[in-house]
Amino acid sequence: MSTSLTHKILDWCARNLWGLPSEIHQMPLSLLNPEQKLPLKMAPIPVMDVGYALHTDELTGRVKKEPFLLDTREFLKAGERDAILASSGMGKSYLTGILLEEILEKSQQVVFIFDFEPEWYTLKARYDNDNRSFKVIGSKESPWPAVLAIPATADQKQIQDCLNTFELAMAPFIQGLIHLGISCVFDLSSFPDRDKQGMTAVLCELIFRGEYNLQDQDDALHNDCRKIRVAVDEAHLVASQYPEKLQHNSLEAILKIAKRGRKRNIHLLVATQTPASINKEVLKQCNRYWLGGITSHLDYKPNKSIYLAAGLTLDAVQKLEAGTFVYASGLTRQTIVGRTRHCKHGGETKKETTRPIASKSEADALLKEFL
Ligand SMILES: Nc1ncnc2c1ncn2[C@@H]1O[C@H](COP(=O)(O)OP(=O)(O)O)[C@@H](O)[C@H]1O
Ligand SMILES: [Mg+2]
Repeated sequence: MSTSLTHKILDWCARNLWGLPSEIHQMPLSLLNPEQKLPLKMAPIPVMDVGYALHTDELTGRVKKEPFLLDTREFLKAGERDAILASSGMGKSYLTGILLEEILEKSQQVVFIFDFEPEWYTLKARYDNDNRSFKVIGSKESPWPAVLAIPATADQKQIQDCLNTFELAMAPFIQGLIHLGISCVFDLSSFPDRDKQGMTAVLCELIFRGEYNLQDQDDALHNDCRKIRVAVDEAHLVASQYPEKLQHNSLEAILKIAKRGRKRNIHLLVATQTPASINKEVLKQCNRYWLGGITSHLDYKPNKSIYLAAGLTLDAVQKLEAGTFVYASGLTRQTIVGRTRHCKHGGETKKETTRPIASKSEADALLKEFL
């Protein structure tokens, strides 16, 4: 992107954002700092180094490891829609991290990660650098504007008003992020599920609209279309199979990206620990499945066709170890184990503390204050 064009966009963002209530404009302006280094042109390397393919020798039973490289050129026409399914602790986020690292290292795609934990902030240390920008929205340095706090007791109308304000604030911001190629984590971990769903719905809709409104402003911007990757970890929270569990139309917005994103160069990645709970339409749209260990047959049954198509019986899927997945796409079936991540894994299983537990007298002293 030429420098003058970039400045034009920054100007455009600033002009539009200044028109917003003061509390809102502070956040995007601090992120879209015109002095920030511009993304360098990187030649897209379409081969993802995911880890190793495991091949079992039928005679000796020995397992041989070979590099597993995913050539994304095979998906130029069909688009890329990944579904990562496995029980808690089986390595979904770790594998998601590998795939996102490959995109961030080797392409000019813009990555938007929906984080409900929070665990994705760890990417910033490596990818907010001279070559590209990576921000965490919802972190201490870039908090969500206070105006977005939806009161717990808000009625439907108040919630909708808040979300409308949110949409107004975020629309030019999202357009600017896409245009400049600034990747980010939307950290929604501090919000109740109701607001996670509402904000995800708004953000997905804005991402789907992409640069379109911006392009209307300036014909010079019509020509190219940034490739966007939308990653939703714990996707059942916002794309549940049970619509009554969703208070907002986050499912609709994610489905829209799954079904119609390809034509706008938007590609999806969903990961979930409860494969039975994720919306089947979303799963059906995916064209790359990464199937990891699941502990319950209740998660196997509803997606039996996906597992069987990948050659996985319930018994086989229950035997998969953490970090091992069966990759299934088109006619390809391959058991793989992910490579070591470049970034710290934010979702590390916690070690047990060695801090001593309270003695009876200490506990009684504390409890006396409450009981
Ligand atoms: N390929 C891998 N290599 C090394 N450690 C891994 C790998 N995959 C998962 N792990 C470890 O397993 C644990 C659970 O992984 P995680 O991806 O957080 O699980 P999930 O998201 O499925 O709940 C983490 O401590 C993680 O570091
Ligand atoms: Mg996880």
